[in-house]
Amino acid sequence: MRRAVCPGSFDPITYGHLDIIERASKLYDVVHVAVLVNKNKQGLFSIDERISMIEETTAGYGNVQVESHQGLLVDYCRERSIPAIVKGLRAVSDFDYELQMAQMNHGLTGVETLFLPTSPTWSFLSSTLVKEVASYGGDVSHLIPPTVHTRLVERIAERAAR
Ligand code: PNS
Repeated sequence: MRRAVCPGSFDPITYGHLDIIERASKLYDVVHVAVLVNKNKQGLFSIDERISMIEETTAGYGNVQVESHQGLLVDYCRERSIPAIVKGLRAVSDFDYELQMAQMNHGLTGVETLFLPTSPTWSFLSSTLVKEVASYGGDVSHLIPPTVHTRLVERIAERAAR
């Protein structure tokens, strides 16, 4: 079985993430989507909510497994014998930090990182921008799946009502 992992925060999943996960799912037998827990960052969605949104939106690919992980990505890979990390590159600005992480991870355990160029349709897209635009009432319905959009609008309304 050829395995790879697509790691990230996925707060929430966007069409940019799905572009990379779908393409990885055609290259590997099993694609693990790992939601990395960042203790220092309070997300808009809980880890369980993020997982359920990813499961809903990747179910059609047929070979995607979703779970969370607290700690180093290299440990997640080692524990599951995953030899490859697949990351999307949106623009040259992503490259510096992604290269650093890829080299660090390779130096730690030998795990490889493969970069896929993000579809130009989504090259400007990030979860952070989606949340910011939506929080000011902007339309982001073309950037995230409908079920994710419904939850995002609900969550922003809940926060605003506090
Ligand atoms: O979606 P993001 O926030 O850009 O994803 C970044 C992520 C979660 C993939 C990266 O921060 C990560 O791998 N975190 C896990 C902790 C870790 O292994 N850190 C060392 C990286 S060299």
